[in-house]
Amino acid sequence: MRRRIVAGNWKMNKTAAEAAALVGELRPLVSDVSNVDVVVCPPFTALAAVAPALVGTNIELGAQNMHWEKSGAYTGEVSAEMLLTLGCRYVILGHSERRQYFHETNSEINKKVKAALAAGLTPILCVGETLEEREDGQTETIVKEHVTGGLLGLSPDQVGKVVIAYEPVWAIGTGKTATPDQAQAVHAFIRNVLKQISNSTIAETVRIQYGGSMKPENAKELMGKPDIDGGLIGGAALKADSFAAIVKAAV
Ligand code: 13P
Repeated sequence: MRRRIVAGNWKMNKTAAEAAALVGELRPLVSDVSNVDVVVCPPFTALAAVAPALVGTNIELGAQNMHWEKSGAYTGEVSAEMLLTLGCRYVILGHSERRQYFHETNSEINKKVKAALAAGLTPILCVGETLEEREDGQTETIVKEHVTGGLLGLSPDQVGKVVIAYEPVWAIGTGKTATPDQAQAVHAFIRNVLKQISNSTIAETVRIQYGGSMKPENAKELMGKPDIDGGLIGGAALKADSFAAIVKAAV
């Protein structure tokens, strides 16, 4: 049985003070949850403010991106070690907004996945098709490219350490959720791809989150599907009660 994982991707929202206030509200709402991994991913500038508020709680810290190099002349970037030493355990990589607006490629994302694993961070690798690609019948081709490209060169054991987030781009921030059956079909497909690049035992252990307009009203039904092991939540993660309700739906 895979342990579910619900993560909040706060994107470019919340100052350090606002972020600390949000986790302050969230803490008591999820403190009784013991069988779900709960993660918050504030912007870089709020990590140091949020980390101390999470000590001794069941909420873990994640970041939204990182660079693959350890250090050096990469203005504006941060390294895995910088995140780790701030208390991060997770890092979101290859989010569709980074692919779309910052032109991140599968090969760059692959370098990041490898650097995160080498540092001891758990990558949350985001994959997913655009509306145009879906309508063109390209969903499986694109998702396979994202998964195999992002995980290229990883040993089966390393594949087993990654969390995948299936986020159909057309469902992100649009209010349009993939139906549970649509999402399940792609999740099962992803698990099959994982089988091909590792083995069945490992593929069965990898958590695959759904992301894209997940909210308290649809979370339970989505996570009720056999290959949907949690959620990567955008908008609904910015309100403590909504995010907590989604976490409770995963219990
Ligand atoms: P929304 O939940 O706002 O659709 O965002 C999903 C997402 O992109 C999480 O990474």
